[in-house]
Amino acid sequence: MTDSLRQDGSSHRSDDVADAHQADAPPATCPAAHLAAPRSAPEDTHGENAGKPAFHKPGDFEWFFRRKLSGLREAGNYRVFAELERKKGNFPKAVRHTSDGQQDVTVWCSNDYLGMGQMACVTDAMHHAIETCGAGAGGTRNISGTNHQHILLERELADLHGKESALIFSSGYVSNWASLGTLGATIPDCVIASDALNHASMIEGIRHSRADKFIWKHNDPEDLDRKLAEIDPARPKIVAFESVYSMDGDIAPIAEICDVAEAHGAMTYLDEVHAVGMYGPRGAGIAERDGVMDRVTMIEGTLGKAFGVMGGYVTGTAAVCDYIRSFSSGFIFTTAIPPAVAAGATASIRHLKASSTERDRQKERVAKVRAALDANGIPHQPNPSHIIPVMVGDPKKCKFISDVLLDQFGIYIQPINYPTVPKGTERLRITPSPLHTDDDIDHLISALNELWSHCALSRAVA
Ligand SMILES: Cc1ncc(COP(=O)(O)O)c(C=O)c1O
Repeated sequence: MTDSLRQDGSSHRSDDVADAHQADAPPATCPAAHLAAPRSAPEDTHGENAGKPAFHKPGDFEWFFRRKLSGLREAGNYRVFAELERKKGNFPKAVRHTSDGQQDVTVWCSNDYLGMGQMACVTDAMHHAIETCGAGAGGTRNISGTNHQHILLERELADLHGKESALIFSSGYVSNWASLGTLGATIPDCVIASDALNHASMIEGIRHSRADKFIWKHNDPEDLDRKLAEIDPARPKIVAFESVYSMDGDIAPIAEICDVAEAHGAMTYLDEVHAVGMYGPRGAGIAERDGVMDRVTMIEGTLGKAFGVMGGYVTGTAAVCDYIRSFSSGFIFTTAIPPAVAAGATASIRHLKASSTERDRQKERVAKVRAALDANGIPHQPNPSHIIPVMVGDPKKCKFISDVLLDQFGIYIQPINYPTVPKGTERLRITPSPLHTDDDIDHLISALNELWSHCALSRAVA
């Protein structure tokens, strides 16, 4: 699952304080309501701080936090995490723990897209590495934490993407944040061109770098071209974008974007987080599928989605990887991932390099779910990827449908609401895996059908 931040600076952050100020009473259910009374907390400030709440005592903070949380609840955007116990050998089934006990559920929104998290070659490699190397890496990469398993994984990743080198991080988020942050901050006078729908991790990395940036229209090489043409040709430029966009499931025209970037002497930074393992003959992603891996300067990915483990990485020339290794605080000043995680990821990548069975079956399952949705008029956004966004268009209905699916039908699909997606485009993001059965699909469709009628949601016309 991915959460994106808006890049126009209008993320919650800027208006939080003003929103909180509009609050007049803590929620009735607030167990620490006494902390918020009397009215003086937080009270108006005056002068240039007018309109902002003042924080005079610890209770003011509590009041502020609770008020903001109740705002999320009222808008239907409060996130509730399902407490799952995944069942090895039985994916996509899981046990859900609730205050009332346990419930068997079928997970329809996992990013373990191919079920590799339970594959024997992956878990065996992890067991073996734990037995031989122990639990943790024992240090940062710089101070005793570089294990042989990390090096094997980096070689595997470099080979996967046809690059000279690779560098692993503790997550895909950190790899984007640290790499774009480092490049933007340390290349003199750098300008970063960011696709309008880039993931939060890229946006935060770019922000953190303090480099000049501009946003180009989503998946629009012409807009990118126009905007790059306005930049001094001598300035260093980085074009940052994704291949498969996780919420809409649309796919970037990588070749055209590379054409534009090359014409302007820009380097390209491509996030293939939702594509690695899934596309291309060896599972290297969309750039591999499109035959353009060599045209992309840096390819970034995750080990936590189709590869079924966790961690993130970048690949590129030996020089750029060494540069990030040497100058990135987010790479150096943190403990290396456990050797067992690296070993599991290597096994998963090797498996998916050689086998297309999982990818093929997954595509077939996606087509089957889409056809069943169509047959029942349940609206889903068309796209060429494995992600099926079933559109609801209302945050409360979206949450309601998700709750009922879970509680009454044992179907788990997390609702996707604002700010992850724009208001009015709330959705259920369905990710069929190769391991969902025909019965699972029939059960999903009949439950959705029932709820669509119950909520009087509009149907798509065939
Ligand atoms: C496009 C994109 N990039 C990066 C990430 C972060 O990857 P990870 O989950 O490995 O931190 C995500 C997470 O969902 C994502 O959607």
